[in-house]
Amino acid sequence: MKALILAGGKGTRLKPLTNTLSKQLIPVANKPILYYVLEQVAEAEIRDIGIIISPETGQGIKEAVGDGSRWNAQITYILQSEPLGLAHAVKTAQDFLGDSSFLMFLGDNLIQGGVKSFVKEFTTNKVDALVLLKEVPDPRLFGVAELNEKGEITRIVEKPREPKTNLAVPGVYLFTRDIYQAIDRIKPSWRGELEITDTIQQLIDSGKKVRSHILTGWWLDTGKKDDLLEANRIVLDEFMKRDLRGEIDAASQVAGRVEVGEGTSIENSIIRGPVSIAEGCQVKNSFIGPFTSVGAGTVIEHSSIEHSVILESCRISGIERLADSVIGRSTEVIRGGQNLKAVRLFVGDDAKVEL
Ligand code: TTP
Repeated sequence: MKALILAGGKGTRLKPLTNTLSKQLIPVANKPILYYVLEQVAEAEIRDIGIIISPETGQGIKEAVGDGSRWNAQITYILQSEPLGLAHAVKTAQDFLGDSSFLMFLGDNLIQGGVKSFVKEFTTNKVDALVLLKEVPDPRLFGVAELNEKGEITRIVEKPREPKTNLAVPGVYLFTRDIYQAIDRIKPSWRGELEITDTIQQLIDSGKKVRSHILTGWWLDTGKKDDLLEANRIVLDEFMKRDLRGEIDAASQVAGRVEVGEGTSIENSIIRGPVSIAEGCQVKNSFIGPFTSVGAGTVIEHSSIEHSVILESCRISGIERLADSVIGRSTEVIRGGQNLKAVRLFVGDDAKVEL
């Protein structure tokens, strides 16, 4: 069994962050999303892992993941020259995958409880494909599956107007080498991509058994800003432990499950968990409220922040209430001098500022 992790794509919906950082490396609770995926693949005892990368952000992924020894895995990087769809990514990886069955995992998806039992179900039942499904309140935004009484998928429809079920298709699948023939038979969709949903439908139409596995835990797709904040909230809520390594002065209060990295100083501030503050930060005369992650080397002074993701090397100063925000690397958010009526901005392409 091999694994194929998809870490290419455009990441349009997370611009401007994705102008310089690949979507899969955006941290959730101060850990890149891709690391959670790699941990879960390794936990399912798959060691031979291919990672699809794009020409724009591939180098960053290589630097962050390296040779994979950290996860006891061997990594092969596979360049997809253009983001022409999930099935196109599989086709691009065909030489790496060879005759092996494989776990396909979208590099920006987080799955509660991992994929070990999912992989086990596939190897025990010897089906042609196994697709993870998740019940969602509004299935119209996703690929939606219809099942027969044996739990086999009979039909998959991409973003149906009137969904027949509430079973969405997240980003985790198990395939055999039958998939390549199915990909060869499909045509690009209206958006010009070779779709994995069309490929699965093609497998079904050619008489292959496509089983489903319904996920009971959460599934988080971190493709948009609010999804990213939600992922940060849920992961902090579930995994954060109290671990205080930096220096916290006597005038500060640190309540609940808070992680403070080495070399971080907290002065005259209140931190209310769950919160993750990475290494080398300075927090002064501030309040950091629940569901906030602060990246390494960031300075926060005279500010109040909650439910936000602040990346590395930022400076937040004099901001009365920063909430529901995602702030990219090396960004300064500063309240200026006395002239309260003017807002002075120096903001990059594709940014969004709500005042
Ligand atoms: P998407 O989120 O569907 O696509 P995207 O990354 O291009 O995002 P956006 O719609 O905001 O532009 O992709 C899901 C995952 O698959 C994501 O981790 C990127 C990856 N991917 C590839 O590796 N190759 C591809 O051709 C596509 C479309 C996605």
